[in-house]
Amino acid sequence: MTREQSVDVLVLGSGIAGLSYALKAAAYGSVAIVTKKERAASSTNYAQGGIAAVIAPDDDTALHVRDTLVAGAGLCHTTAVLELVQEGPARVMDLIEWGVRFSRDAGDFSLGREGGHSTRRILHAGDFTGKEIERALLQAVAEHPRIELYEDTVAIDLLVGTVGGDTNDASRCGGALVLDHHAGELVAFRASVTLIATGGIGQAFRHTTNPDIATGDGIAMAYRAGASIANLEFVQFHPTALYPAEQRAFLISEAVRGEGAVLRTLDGALLPIDHPLGSLAPRDIVARHIDRYMKDSGSPHALLDLSPIPTAEIESRFPGILAECLARGIDIRKEPIPVVPAAHYACGGVLTDAEGRTTIGGLYAAGEVACTGVHGANRLASNSLLEAVVYSHRASEQVPSELGIRCHDARVRPGGDSVAAVAPAGMTVTEVRAGIRDRMWESAGIVRRSSEMRDAAIELGELRSMSEAIRAANPLDPEAVE
Ligand code: FAD
Ligand code: SIN
Repeated sequence: MTREQSVDVLVLGSGIAGLSYALKAAAYGSVAIVTKKERAASSTNYAQGGIAAVIAPDDDTALHVRDTLVAGAGLCHTTAVLELVQEGPARVMDLIEWGVRFSRDAGDFSLGREGGHSTRRILHAGDFTGKEIERALLQAVAEHPRIELYEDTVAIDLLVGTVGGDTNDASRCGGALVLDHHAGELVAFRASVTLIATGGIGQAFRHTTNPDIATGDGIAMAYRAGASIANLEFVQFHPTALYPAEQRAFLISEAVRGEGAVLRTLDGALLPIDHPLGSLAPRDIVARHIDRYMKDSGSPHALLDLSPIPTAEIESRFPGILAECLARGIDIRKEPIPVVPAAHYACGGVLTDAEGRTTIGGLYAAGEVACTGVHGANRLASNSLLEAVVYSHRASEQVPSELGIRCHDARVRPGGDSVAAVAPAGMTVTEVRAGIRDRMWESAGIVRRSSEMRDAAIELGELRSMSEAIRAANPLDPEAVE
């Protein structure tokens, strides 16, 4: 039995994109946020470095635009980058109005620097920026009379129909089918507007900085519903995850290099990086250099040397990183940190226009799940939180024009493309996941070869058949449907 529930605006996900959109969309109607685990479980909650914006008097828009385009390796959409950078400062002010407390020095914002930025422009809250943003937004949402938030509620598929009821009409999204884990039942959540804000795909790789919610659900749902997906080949690998990198690796923020730390080989030499910014080059370049060094030398990791940063500054600016490393027996005030690259960010995703519209009517996407084109082949550090607030805002401004439109016969679209491969028998969810993560890491990781990718595509097809079989057999099991 599927229960029915209706709302004006349905938001899938409670990270910075979903929450900031909900707070604005609520000006026009009722809003429901469904989120698959507890409310703060998101990549947003782990963000360390901060949010980039042109705030300093000696910074300027053209410089932030140029840094973004250079990091994106010539593949960014220039108009989108301009919108991002021009509107960034106003959206940062929205965050402050919602109660986010960014770090200050003698009253002024304390601005950090990260890879690929030619100047200091990163607002942060110590090295707990994401936690502070999540705290403030969740509090604002909790106090809002028109927003309901449902935890442990997993969106499984989009409900798609047409405007006129004729099968030749353009597709329109009428909400989502969700699994309410508490009630153990499926709910058809009907809405005039739906925003996908389900975050990234890091958990598709063996080593990632992303939390376990980052399984690409939004991209998969949109794909099954027929929406266009773009640029998914551009996965960003962060150069400095703490070694050993577990399934969710602890991140050593690029802001540490921004304050002067440098990368070294295991014998103490500076890691040679073929770029004028050296250790502070854009992320893709640094990650590839570490990967090459590890492969050539057989070293299991590189070293991050914090000795150029005064001890008092390490303690005040990076309390979270200091505490986590101490807990693992590394005193970063006295010794270097062993680091390795790990999957970090999806530069592509569900294709949107400048207002967050996908290719399906009534369906919007914002945040890491979306592909607005601003990041090109490689995102500039701290531009993700910025993109999420800028494009959530733009998407929210479209809500009034969508509210009157009705969607007929909205249901889960049958089929999608069929899976040809034969599923290996008898695998568990855990085994399927581990197989995907290993294959993606080995064949679709930092450096790729076409022959390995072709082999991987066959194996991934088999794993996909198996996961679909498990899902079909366990429609009410939240683990099976993720
Ligand atoms: P998320 O914050 O990941 O939120 C996604 C939400 O969707 C979650 O609530 C999740 O539970 C929910 N969800 C997922 N699937 C479903 C489903 N099927 N049904 C219902 N709900 C679902 N970027 C920066 O700009 N600056 C930084 O300093 C920075 N540091 C980072 C540090 C780390 C360790 C990581 C992992 C990322 C960092 N990033 C940083 C990237 C940035 O944090 C993310 O890209 C951004 O927070 C994504 O926000 P979001 O709202 O799109 O997604
Ligand atoms: C970091 O703090 O290094 C992460 C910043 C980002 O992903 O933009």
